[in-house]
Amino acid sequence: MRIVLIGFGTVGQSLARILIKDRDWLVKNHGFEPQITAIVDSRGSCRDDNGLNLDRVLKVKEKYGTVQKYPATVEGKTSIQQIISSAEAEAVIETTPSNFENGEPGLTNIKNSLSARRHVVTSNKGPLALAMPALLELASHTRMQLRFSATVGAGTPFLTFASKCLPGEKILGIHGILNGTTNYILTRMEELSFQKALAEAQEKGYAEENAENDIDGLDTAAKIVIIANWILKRRMSINQLKVTGIRDILPEKILRASKSGTRIKLIGRLADSEATVRPEEVRADDPVCVPGNLNALSFSTEHTGDVTLIGRGAGGEETASAIIRDLVDIRTEYSI
Ligand SMILES: NC(=O)c1ccc[n+]([C@@H]2O[C@H](COP(=O)([O-])OP(=O)(O)OC[C@H]3O[C@@H](n4cnc5c(N)ncnc54)[C@H](OP(=O)(O)O)[C@@H]3O)[C@@H](O)[C@H]2O)c1
Repeated sequence: MRIVLIGFGTVGQSLARILIKDRDWLVKNHGFEPQITAIVDSRGSCRDDNGLNLDRVLKVKEKYGTVQKYPATVEGKTSIQQIISSAEAEAVIETTPSNFENGEPGLTNIKNSLSARRHVVTSNKGPLALAMPALLELASHTRMQLRFSATVGAGTPFLTFASKCLPGEKILGIHGILNGTTNYILTRMEELSFQKALAEAQEKGYAEENAENDIDGLDTAAKIVIIANWILKRRMSINQLKVTGIRDILPEKILRASKSGTRIKLIGRLADSEATVRPEEVRADDPVCVPGNLNALSFSTEHTGDVTLIGRGAGGEETASAIIRDLVDIRTEYSI
């Protein structure tokens, strides 16, 4: 499978490292031999239709801050659109930053890729949060696959679990913790102020420098939208959700909850007509009441009752591993 990789930050570079390290294992176990033929970052691109040398691209990125300095086989500056349509590739991986205002640049990249008849695997939640029904329709119309396992739970397969392990079960609703950054902050607020807990999360790499989308609940809301569209077949966008973040929670409230055997958690919830993201008081013995930067999602099913999956929800390597899972799936289905 030949692949164009758009975005070469934490996730893109982790993916390159895994592809180098696991090359033989992927061939042996899945007959899967991906070749990255083009990589794009915010300052330029590199391309080799015979397959880029990923070790070399990583070194170039580290030294110059852009992949543009890789000795390219195609001269001159090329637009992303040109690369998508002209590079030798069956698939495009989209890993640019999640933008919840207009979805760009990911939204255009995904549309262009599907229209150019490339399968798309994305870790970028922005385009899905804003336009998932339209993107799924475009994928269906062009008969291409649009995969997004990495957008919810990163390496923890919440979406795959629901679609592959629970078919035949009616999922009535879901609720849980879908953002590790806010969960870490809320856990640490039993001892620290909000600002200190946030600073500690940033120091440990659990929160980005700009953690507004996490703290204000937008990241969780985007994941709820993806689950609603994909698992519950409910067409919706992020603008239809009631969202309250954790910015205004006082430490006293956290302590009071802790003393009474509960915890304050940022909970995403989908039930009959309800779709919310807000801080809720959760019993300490509830399976979704997980500490630190963990994620936990409970599926309420008609016959089995609640089924809960717990795992790490972010991290470059975890997210890259979900992308590989999607690629292997596409390869298996399409014999690429
Ligand atoms: N990191 C995680 O744990 C995680 C987990 C789940 C999902 N995600 C999602 O995965 C995506 C990537 O995350 P990340 O942590 O890898 O982000 P990141 O480190 O900020 O990397 C983003 C990459 O996109 C490139 N980029 C930005 N604007 C661009 C543009 N206009 N055209 C082309 N490339 C552009 C950046 O270029 P430069 O290198 O030149 O800056 C960078 O290479 C995001 O949508 C994020 O929400 C991340």
